[in-house]
Amino acid sequence: MKKVSIIYWSNGGNVELLANCIAEGVEGEVEINLKHVNDASEEDVITADAIAMGSPAMVDDGIEQLEMKPFIDKLSTIRFNNKPLVLFGSCGWRDDKFIYNWESVMKDYGFEVIGKVVCKESLTGEEVEKAKSLGKELVNLM
Ligand SMILES: Cc1cc2nc3c(=O)[nH]c(=O)nc-3n(C[C@H](O)[C@H](O)[C@H](O)COP(=O)(O)O)c2cc1C
Repeated sequence: MKKVSIIYWSNGGNVELLANCIAEGVEGEVEINLKHVNDASEEDVITADAIAMGSPAMVDDGIEQLEMKPFIDKLSTIRFNNKPLVLFGSCGWRDDKFIYNWESVMKDYGFEVIGKVVCKESLTGEEVEKAKSLGKELVNLM
């Protein structure tokens, strides 16, 4: 069975909600591997046919520094050969620049970034629908 891994960091729940919406969008006979990054390993990325990763903006337009960034750094030695990837996140007082910075890193690692969704703190109805449709799209590309 094909597998999609959805790996995220969240403290206040905004990014976690986006992760759940992406999972809701996944249709068909597909294993959904939904994990907080603390419970994830590189194997969750290597063995999945498609990936979604999420983080809030944290300090200077970066992703979360203590748990998400070290996880992403560990992936730098692996080539991902155009594996489909959705990036998602939430920001507070700035804009969505952090997701573009993150996208550039993930493209360097060989992922094909097929879409992004960022909310400002909590999700709007439009962002819920966008996250669901990205989950659907991700699976169609596997
Ligand atoms: C310690 C800390 C640092 C943050 N740094 C930024 C930042 O640099 N830029 C920004 O736009 N938002 C920043 N935020 C706001 C979060 O990105 C925002 O609240 C987000 O919705 C949190 O996601 P979560 O609810 O999934 O934890 C920060 C929040 C905290 C608690």
